Amino acid sequence: MTAHMNVAMDSGVWTPDSWQRFPALQQPSYRDPQQLARVLGELARLPPIVVSWEVDQLRDELAAAQRGERFLLQGGDCAEGFTDCDSDTIARKLKILLQMSVVLLHGLKKPVIRVGRFAGQFAKPRSADMETRDGTTLPSYRGDLVNRAAFTATDREPDPELLLRGYERAALTLNFVRALVDGGFADMHHPEYWDLGFLQHARLRDGYRKIIDSISDSLDFYAAISGSPVHEATQARFYASHEGLHLLYEQAQTRYLKRRQRWYNLSTHLPWIGLRTSQPDGAHVEYFRGIANPVAVKVGEGTDPETLRGLIRVLNPDDEPGRLTLIHRFGAKRIDAALPAMIRAVRDSGRKVLWVCDPMHGNTETTALGIKTRRFESILAEVESAFRIHEESGSILGGVHFELTGDDVTECTGGARGLTDADLARAYHTAVDPRLNYEQALELAMQIARQRPRR
Ligand code: PEP
Ligand code: CO
Repeated sequence: MTAHMNVAMDSGVWTPDSWQRFPALQQPSYRDPQQLARVLGELARLPPIVVSWEVDQLRDELAAAQRGERFLLQGGDCAEGFTDCDSDTIARKLKILLQMSVVLLHGLKKPVIRVGRFAGQFAKPRSADMETRDGTTLPSYRGDLVNRAAFTATDREPDPELLLRGYERAALTLNFVRALVDGGFADMHHPEYWDLGFLQHARLRDGYRKIIDSISDSLDFYAAISGSPVHEATQARFYASHEGLHLLYEQAQTRYLKRRQRWYNLSTHLPWIGLRTSQPDGAHVEYFRGIANPVAVKVGEGTDPETLRGLIRVLNPDDEPGRLTLIHRFGAKRIDAALPAMIRAVRDSGRKVLWVCDPMHGNTETTALGIKTRRFESILAEVESAFRIHEESGSILGGVHFELTGDDVTECTGGARGLTDADLARAYHTAVDPRLNYEQALELAMQIARQRPRR
């Protein structure tokens, strides 16, 4: 599909399909081109999932986060599954994101921008194209947008119809999110409705209790002074984000807005480029450079300063505020050695970015039994290092990026209940990476709030 023509990225004319002239990694190969073309045609005709003024609003808010005036909380599943598209799962995800944002707002004293990894987080990059089990080799599972997880030849065959199913589920998810937000979801702001059973197990329970009491008092005070509870007086806005991995899917939802004279990807507010597809001369960077959305790029081991400067030049040539977010994910052990050079590279470029810490993807471990997990302590340690290193470098950590769920899963170890490797088997549901559960996610927000009061 994509003959490599080695053109200097920023010199060519951009069109929604100009990425097809560049090497595109991590793309499925479909057996029936006609069926694929029909599906993509349909996707291109369907209404957008988000609208341009929301996208513009988010860009403005991210620009404020770059200046240290707001803080970004981005979180959700590693991979959303089509079966997760049910009301309880969605409501619980909103609930944990909202409650974390209240804790962070209270601790950091800054408005928090809430961005879900939801309503379209269906495509996954994989380290190998094929998977072998008991002598049988089949295509890897690439997320529900592409194929099915079960290990049979039929399930693993990329199916274009899944692109439509994914679009529909993204729309259904965001529709429900919007309805919940419109309704104010009354019981989610106030700590008296939070699930705080884990507090009694926490070593730091007194500190956590103080945060909770202070939030309760603040909300009561707000209600008393304004005459209505916070959920009636303000609207908790949520934005959507996903990894913009499947370029034909993204291209099909790229629309030209005459009024703005720009192209927008209207499948989500904030698409990001994953670590495996962030080559400056690759198809993903080519596609992303032409859309008006705020965009994010993962930065990690293997990203060198020169490459980073190149990415910034291509993705944000006009140094537009809020346009470019860099999500670093080095791991608690490597962040000290790696991040300062990245911060210097950005400073030398003379451009502004929003720095965000993803403390999940550099901290994945495998247990003795071969289960993928992450330790609460490593996740927290990386966030703490990130705050400290940015501060020492005269830079600003403007957000955090977590893989989490509102459910009571056992995929990461540690936290107040002290989950161990042996607990993982109890409720390990993720199809890809291990997520923080409700309690671990809320506790992490409290740890950040407790340690980072604004001076
Ligand atoms: C992810 O965010 O799930 C992911 C695959 O991350 P990264 O691109 O940083 O490896
Ligand atoms: Co992941």
